[in-house]
Amino acid sequence: MSKEDSKSREQFSSKIGVIAAAAGSAIGLGNIWKFPYEAGKNGGAAFIVVYLVAILMIGLPIMISEFVIGRKARANAVGSFKKLAPKTKWHFTGVMGVVSSFMILSFYGVVAGWTLEYVFLGFQNAFKEQTPQDLKATFDAFSTSPSRPLFWQFLFMALTAWIVAAGVKKGIERISKILMPVLLLIIAILCIRSLSLGENIDPTTGQVIGSSMDGLRFLFQPDFSKINANVILSAVGHAFFTLSLGMGTIITYGSYVNKKNNISKTAFQVTFLDTLIALLSGIAIFPAVFYFNVEPDKGPGLVFTILPSIFQQIVGGYFFTLAFFMLLALAALTSSISLLEVAVSYFSEQLKVERKKATLYTALAITLIGVACSLSLGPWSSFTVLGYNIFGIMEYASANVLLPLGGLLIALFIGWFFPRNDFYDELSNSGTLKLASFRLFFFAVKYLAPIAILIIFLYSAGFLKPLLKYLNILL
Ligand code: TRP
Repeated sequence: MSKEDSKSREQFSSKIGVIAAAAGSAIGLGNIWKFPYEAGKNGGAAFIVVYLVAILMIGLPIMISEFVIGRKARANAVGSFKKLAPKTKWHFTGVMGVVSSFMILSFYGVVAGWTLEYVFLGFQNAFKEQTPQDLKATFDAFSTSPSRPLFWQFLFMALTAWIVAAGVKKGIERISKILMPVLLLIIAILCIRSLSLGENIDPTTGQVIGSSMDGLRFLFQPDFSKINANVILSAVGHAFFTLSLGMGTIITYGSYVNKKNNISKTAFQVTFLDTLIALLSGIAIFPAVFYFNVEPDKGPGLVFTILPSIFQQIVGGYFFTLAFFMLLALAALTSSISLLEVAVSYFSEQLKVERKKATLYTALAITLIGVACSLSLGPWSSFTVLGYNIFGIMEYASANVLLPLGGLLIALFIGWFFPRNDFYDELSNSGTLKLASFRLFFFAVKYLAPIAILIIFLYSAGFLKPLLKYLNILL
């Protein structure tokens, strides 16, 4: 790589800029919408334990690896592998990432569109005096409608494309740097209100309908008998999804990081913030779920029905509802930008399509797949594969298959192909930073993460069952 190369490439101006962009990518619908409903679907605390272990053992080492690849190569997800491993097949990892970005952003844009509808409804005070059952009916009617969600999805995707094409990302980062702490504050208020709901007693019969403490137990008292192959795969898949790993987002962002940045520290901070927001969202939602006695495994509508219910129990709920859904939409936007960026930087840098054109066509194609996702919840719901509708297929296949597979390849690349000294050099900024635990990092990337992912894949594909049976006989 020539000197001009690294000079002409845009760079994040400050340490906070890197953290803001990477955290902006990581923190999004994954934390506030997907985490609670995956946790609900997969049995609560047991899922959360596996998710936390996966974040530390697999997520963090892979995030560091992606930063290293991107900063070292200074190129997009595909180009990075081509530069670091010319004449090999490693760049296929990047191509897979581009495919994942299409699949993820297609349903992501749909859900982000829902948040816009909820801003609109909140503005009209439409949630006032609605019971959780009413709110569920509102959500079901809206999300299965053949037209209304599409309008918001188009609007959101246009906004995403406009920001990526016009290169106003810096402005967005600046705004979200100020507003994300406000989102955190609102979530904290929701947590307090949700926890303090106490016992819900039916005024006529005097019977206890539900209790918020049960929600806390659901989140933090693991029942390990609930763990099975699919719970583990979902928890690991979600760890990838929530940290934006396994498809080259952090490689792409890493390519804009300057040489002085302490990559491992940045990765720690982003991971910490992301996990904090997910856990707080859980604490905001589940006590209320149990208080109102609705099913915890309700699926994608969970936050859209529970959160407005809690806001109604808060003074100034009107403004909180409005502010919350606006900020959620903004959090989704900083994530969707990062998803689109992976594909656009590939098409414009590798295939030399002009950047504005690349953005337009990519966004159009993704929106079209998104239309199918949205319709698959309503008019096309009878079309399913293995019980999953199109929305579900995109969600499951990307998070639970493509991202862990991409992560596996990235870990193998850094652990087994990339020179160990170069890895050390990148992490220590050529020896200027003291690294307390380089050996541990390296061990995690080389052995821990790949072996864990492999075992989980084999286990969930059923290959390990005969072996386990055999071991059972032996022991
Ligand atoms: N992490 C984001 C969220 O939690 C979504 C996201 C952005 C993503 N970029 C990604 C997921 C790359 C996987 C890969 O909302």
